[in-house]
Amino acid sequence: MPQINRQFVLASRPQGAVTPENFRLVETPLAPLADGEVRVRNHYLSLDPYMRGRMNDSKSYAPPQPLDEVMIGGTVGEVIESKNANFAVGDKVVAMFGWQEYGTSNGAGVQRVDDTHVPLSAYLGPVGMPGVTAWYGLNRIIAPKAGETVVVSAASGAVGSVVGQLAKEAGARAVGIGGGPQKCRYVVETLGFDACIDYKAGNLYQDLKAATPDGIDGCFENVGGEVLDATLARMNPWGRIAVCGFIAGYDGKPVPLKHPSLILTQRLLVQGFIVTEHMDVWPQALKQLGTLVAQKKLHYRESIAQGLDAAPEAFIGLLKGKNFGKQLVKLI
Ligand SMILES: NC(=O)c1ccc[n+]([C@@H]2O[C@H](COP(=O)([O-])OP(=O)(O)OC[C@H]3O[C@@H](n4cnc5c(N)ncnc54)[C@H](OP(=O)(O)O)[C@@H]3O)[C@@H](O)[C@H]2O)c1
Repeated sequence: MPQINRQFVLASRPQGAVTPENFRLVETPLAPLADGEVRVRNHYLSLDPYMRGRMNDSKSYAPPQPLDEVMIGGTVGEVIESKNANFAVGDKVVAMFGWQEYGTSNGAGVQRVDDTHVPLSAYLGPVGMPGVTAWYGLNRIIAPKAGETVVVSAASGAVGSVVGQLAKEAGARAVGIGGGPQKCRYVVETLGFDACIDYKAGNLYQDLKAATPDGIDGCFENVGGEVLDATLARMNPWGRIAVCGFIAGYDGKPVPLKHPSLILTQRLLVQGFIVTEHMDVWPQALKQLGTLVAQKKLHYRESIAQGLDAAPEAFIGLLKGKNFGKQLVKLI
């Protein structure tokens, strides 16, 4: 049995952009399991933009990540030891063990998953929190009708890639916004969106206008700033905007709206949401997403960093758009 657990703790809070010095690697002896406990070897750690918000000591929908404690994070792995009747050695599980190689729990928050038809890592992506986020914002806020146009920013990413594919399933026209020609090509050719606008090409509004000849009925916003401004200017009356994230501002840069009066003049519905506050939809959403992935009808891509030591740089890269698809860290 392993003796040592390697973990990343939050060493300091970022002032602006995250730096590697904000994290500290520690080695902690693994205590023998107590009755009722289960030990998991984590195979993959999920890196997600929400972690940046938790690194701040500011008021938000969730409490801050405490200093000197293991960084929060979703994980998938395998049970290697169990004194809990609900788990057997070899079970594959999803949990929130955070940035560490092993997780120990009394079973609370640990869920068994079946990796026969759905790869284990997908439970951190399309068949996990990002997938349900896409499902909720699209189905419960935008609720697209056939023939409507839905635009999603960060379209090649973990959430955005699922949004566009579900919009197509609903019979809508899906238009993505992404960073660079390679990501945009993937969004159209592999994910099946109708179009994708490269916001880095310097002609965002005109390109978006050309790709949305009938205007925009649903906006799934992941980025904010100039990307949201351009979409807002193309919204049809009674359009719906699902505000999922404002990643352009996560390092503290302001993301002002240039034309907020359009919300009034176009009678728009603008709804922010936090996926973990809608646990009632998770079973339904995960069932649909799991079936689509198992049938290979829902495509996704992963950026995989190798080894726990690579986590800080991979996370910093995620906040700069260096990932191409769901950002994971392979821990074994
Ligand atoms: N509300 C909720 O409950 C909830 C749950 C999960 C995620 N989210 C939000 O959903 C969004 C997407 O998350 P994800 O996990 O799917 O991440 P992701 O899209 O896989 O990765 C982040 C992407 O955001 C784009 N990006 C990063 N920094 C940017 C910047 N400064 N300006 C513009 N774009 C930038 C990059 O794509 P490009 O290269 O294409 O720009 C990057 O690849 C985030 O805003 C996240 O906070 C919200």
